[in-house]
Amino acid sequence: MTPLEIKPGIFWAGVLDWTLRDFHGYSTEKGSTYNAYVVKGRDKIALFDTVKTTHFDEFIERLEEIVDVEKIDYIVVNHAEMDHSGSLPMVVDRVKPEKIFLSKPCKDALIAHFGDVVESWPLQIVATGDEVSLGGKTISFIEARMLHWPDSMFSYIKEDRVLISNDGFGQHYSTSVRFDDEADWGELMHQSAKYYANILLPYSPIMLKKLDEIGSMNIEIDMIAPDHGIIWRSHIPEILSAYRKWAEGKCLDKAVVTYDTMWHSTENMARHIAEGLINKGIETHVMDLRVTHHSDVMTEILDARGLLLGSPTLNTGYLPRMADLVCYVKGLRPIKKVGAAFGSYGWAGESLKLLNQELEAMKINIVHPGIKVKYVPRESDLHECFAMGESVAEAIYEANKA
Ligand code: FEO
Repeated sequence: MTPLEIKPGIFWAGVLDWTLRDFHGYSTEKGSTYNAYVVKGRDKIALFDTVKTTHFDEFIERLEEIVDVEKIDYIVVNHAEMDHSGSLPMVVDRVKPEKIFLSKPCKDALIAHFGDVVESWPLQIVATGDEVSLGGKTISFIEARMLHWPDSMFSYIKEDRVLISNDGFGQHYSTSVRFDDEADWGELMHQSAKYYANILLPYSPIMLKKLDEIGSMNIEIDMIAPDHGIIWRSHIPEILSAYRKWAEGKCLDKAVVTYDTMWHSTENMARHIAEGLINKGIETHVMDLRVTHHSDVMTEILDARGLLLGSPTLNTGYLPRMADLVCYVKGLRPIKKVGAAFGSYGWAGESLKLLNQELEAMKINIVHPGIKVKYVPRESDLHECFAMGESVAEAIYEANKA
């Protein structure tokens, strides 16, 4: 393939993973990409990141289209996670770099993954503000702790105004195009939101500080080149603004009604609650956990104000798919939500109480005590569900006004 020069002297060296369908519990229906970059200065050539071990051979082929790999002088390791560093030991063997730049936590994480061999590599620890010249191209390092691991780092190429942002601003999205102005805009923003909701959301306060820090550095950014998915060159204000909105927990007049059901009673309740929400003009997403992956529910929760959880009682608890969702959402720590719960039961009916406890544990403001219905909802129960939907809708409008 003809090498893709994303800026003069800066090349995309990534691989496309069309078949990936799961990334530690996140459904990747569009696959993923592992982007790496080669930057050729007057004096030195640097490689930024590598790829998953499974794609090493393809990666070397891509690199060799760009540069004789033995001529690479430096490797910058922006992140230790294995989707970017899995191939690193093999790449180090091939390249025999003069130096490897990385953060201190990255060194520790690489030793934990690969053992003492890492100590024998020509490592140079860098921190925010450190710079390395390649000759006409200067790398300025920006630590980005917890975006997504303690070791994460961004690298800014000053003369070209390119921010190599590792996990930040990425998407698990395999495409034949590389730039934001070539991609389907709706799909690109959907995949960006899905990535933020499922990977970066718990670190939103850190993300806000990082956005402020980058703003206060007065650096111009012509291009954001993440390690996953599409490169941003034409819509940089839009993705920065979306990240700020997601990190601040800005919500729409929107609700997610998600449930599992045993004999369709809870499903029927969900439908009537949703109709109440819709009747009041709330954008409503009804997400049946029997057919919807928890990471897709999470994507809709990202900018929804309302979260409604429904499950019948099973063996004094709630259904396992709901337990899976609750566990997943709790870890991602969405903020500023309002919520309520509902479900059918046969004799004891613990699920409502337990789901309310889970909402509380997630610091979700419970705006309705919830409804439980014995066995099968009657007409009057369904009217009550509809009214509950309308009532939660009012709470959503109130919360969004505040
Ligand atoms: Fe794409 Fe945190 O690794």
